[in-house]
Amino acid sequence: MADLQSKLESILRDATVAALGDAYADADPLVTPAKDARFGDYQANLAMGLAKRAGRKPREIAEAIVRHLGHDALSKADVAGPGFINLTLNDALLSGQAASMLRDDRLGVEAVADPQTVVIDYASPNLAKEMHIGHLRSTIIGDAIARVLGFQGQHIIRQNHIGDWGTQFGLLLEHLIDTDWQHSADQTIGDLNALYQEASRREDNDADFARRARQRVVALQSGDEQARTIWKLLIGESVRHMNQVFDRLGVQLTDADLAPESFYNDRLASVVDALDQQGLLHDHKGAKAVFVDGFKDRDGNPLPMAVRKADGGFGYPATDLAAVYYRIDELHADRVIYVVDSRQKDHFAQFFQVARQAGWAGDGVRLEHVGFGTIMGKDRKPFKTRTGEIVKLGDVLDEAVERAAQVVAAKNPELDNARRDAIARVVGIGAVKYADLSNDRIKDYVFDWDRMLALEGNTAPYLIYAYVRIRSIFRKGGVDPASVAGASVVLTDPTERALILKLSQLPRVIESVADSLEPHRLCTYLYEVASLYHQFNHTCPVLKAEDAATRDSRLALSWLVARTLKLGLGLLGIGVVEQM
Ligand code: ARG
Repeated sequence: MADLQSKLESILRDATVAALGDAYADADPLVTPAKDARFGDYQANLAMGLAKRAGRKPREIAEAIVRHLGHDALSKADVAGPGFINLTLNDALLSGQAASMLRDDRLGVEAVADPQTVVIDYASPNLAKEMHIGHLRSTIIGDAIARVLGFQGQHIIRQNHIGDWGTQFGLLLEHLIDTDWQHSADQTIGDLNALYQEASRREDNDADFARRARQRVVALQSGDEQARTIWKLLIGESVRHMNQVFDRLGVQLTDADLAPESFYNDRLASVVDALDQQGLLHDHKGAKAVFVDGFKDRDGNPLPMAVRKADGGFGYPATDLAAVYYRIDELHADRVIYVVDSRQKDHFAQFFQVARQAGWAGDGVRLEHVGFGTIMGKDRKPFKTRTGEIVKLGDVLDEAVERAAQVVAAKNPELDNARRDAIARVVGIGAVKYADLSNDRIKDYVFDWDRMLALEGNTAPYLIYAYVRIRSIFRKGGVDPASVAGASVVLTDPTERALILKLSQLPRVIESVADSLEPHRLCTYLYEVASLYHQFNHTCPVLKAEDAATRDSRLALSWLVARTLKLGLGLLGIGVVEQM
């Protein structure tokens, strides 16, 4: 099923060819939803651009196109201003579109004809520490992107590139071996956290300890048995803890998606060799480095990216080179997406460039760094606890659920405790995720409990509540939603028209999120849908509609809204509830 905008685009393309000739078959009609419903449903802005090409006035071009429109999908088409074409669709077309969406499991979003293999690297925490607020954004933005692309029908490969191999393990291992640590089954991540803090304090105050810790990493990476044994215990405990957090967050990562840094250990040397064979490797201050095209250091000299350190060790860049090679060569990625803090922007730009220079990533492969800003406290500084400590993710989720329980209890005091808590889990976790996803990801945002849990505004509780209200209309009327799926949708009020137009934009929105990798576009859209539904509810009685046909039509429209909200929230990794 083509969406309305695509239908309009093809109508305009035909009219343009009819008006100006075959040479104009490639012209983009530049159709956009109208900003003001008084002027129509859509606007086409191609005349201004074509005027230059045709050597005629824009208005003249626009009028010529309009004369050739004569299509029964349109009830009105006129030219405004310098040459904007305002378009109003036929009611029958809108009703038909609503009916097709109702019948379609995917609400009009067609699966892609030619699926790509998309590798998405997200969450990817450094282990040995408890999950904290700094891990939230990559985890939920990455998960939303994976869901959206997966819904499109792309072949998704999730990669949780956990840091299980770096210097933090040297510190921890050295400290544990030094203090004759014994593993016990009830060891929790909380204990590990404390041990890690002790170790890093020692590093700061004891140069000899710091030196031994560095050696310990080398021992670990070269297979030392004692180091390996303890390391495995630490990793096991960290992964167990990480999975608990993922589970509470409703994130789709499992152990099958683990692709730890250590996984690439055996591949590092051959990747560096491959660069060497291509003559890309140079000596730089004792290290082996690639000079990255297009990058300069502060003094304007070519910028080196060290792939093998002077002590023979490999670092973060080498691991990422091995990983990108693996993802393209063995996982056959068409697109590799890295959801990582914007502060690592240069790192990604550089190793992407090296992968291009080395010929691993051809023109057909898209490498993308999906960067994001920092979560701030109300004081506009990076979010910390009241005592200035790093905020644990588990604590955030606990507090979200507690606060949501209060909101739910205030809204509906009749709910029993068990039901209230179940609802609070969905709403509370959803609120935290939505507050994050609804912001332009590149920007920092302020973590604000009251705002994210508000029942008004662009929040998860508002959207979930809109869904709940629709469910309750059906409950109250004793109507089974399936019974209105075949209803014909009639247009009796401008709010119905606005709603159908908005609902029919879903395929476009999904496409734009998939391309820009900006989940906030979907949030904005869902908020618009819910707001329009709110207006519709205000003017159009549903159960008390004047006649049975109007009632069924409005129920059908309500059901489309509910399904759109549920699907859209689901693509953001947020659930809905039936009651609230
Ligand atoms: N573990 C890294 C960190 O915490 C993030 C890894 C992101 N993925 C990657 N392929 N570099 O900074």
